[in-house]
Amino acid sequence: METPSTAGAAGPATEANDAARRRIVIDLGCGRRKKPGAIGLDIASVPGVDILADVMRPLPLKDNSVDEVYASHLIEHVDDVLAFMGEVWRVCKPGALVYFRFPHGSAPFLTWKDPTHRRGVYLAMFEYFDPTTLDGQLWGYYHPAKFKIERRYLNFNLNADTWQPSRARRLLGRLFDWAANRSPRWQYLCERWWGNWVGMEEAHIWLRALKPAGSGPDAIPG
Ligand SMILES: C[S@@+](CC[C@H](N)C(=O)[O-])C[C@H]1O[C@@H](n2cnc3c(N)ncnc32)[C@H](O)[C@@H]1O
Repeated sequence: METPSTAGAAGPATEANDAARRRIVIDLGCGRRKKPGAIGLDIASVPGVDILADVMRPLPLKDNSVDEVYASHLIEHVDDVLAFMGEVWRVCKPGALVYFRFPHGSAPFLTWKDPTHRRGVYLAMFEYFDPTTLDGQLWGYYHPAKFKIERRYLNFNLNADTWQPSRARRLLGRLFDWAANRSPRWQYLCERWWGNWVGMEEAHIWLRALKPAGSGPDAIPG
């Protein structure tokens, strides 16, 4: 994140820098590929992990203390998604950004070849936590954790940022990514009907934590 220069003296720039320094970003299940600048939490002790933690237990973080949550290829490992989403929501500041990416549930090979995976995951699952969606309204009583879906994206090629697919896969990827992501309706059609025919591999979702403004660290008991 770019911050204004502090050269000179105290003042707005210094305050902005202080605020940036206080910005807490966590990477859950970071493994060896931690997001730069984030605090990495993982159940495994591998290089990059800052805090050993099991995300199926309460996170070792205060209520309303985190600005950004990042979790790449973790949620498919989680047994109890409601409890996990509840913990993510608990540690988020109001309006915190939450990003998940995961192997798409329509790809059975990628979803099930890893013996530590517990579930297939779909973008539509997150609508249950978003009170502006139909499933969020119908089934919002499942759990108090609430998030607004800001953006979603389906990918033909898994981990294309760190793994170079073949030329043919890159071309197919461009075509299928375009078709899948034309609108939320097209994303739904891909998830529900044709994603598994072509093998859509990965999904990304960006959420905002919905909480009363003014919730500060420890403001909510628990
Ligand atoms: C597929 S790896 C993803 C690693 C990294 N985020 C990435 O995208 O390359 C899944 C990671 O989640 C971690 N993990 C699995 N279950 C966990 C749990 N209950 N609590 C914390 N971390 C867990 C694993 O140790 C592993 O590092």
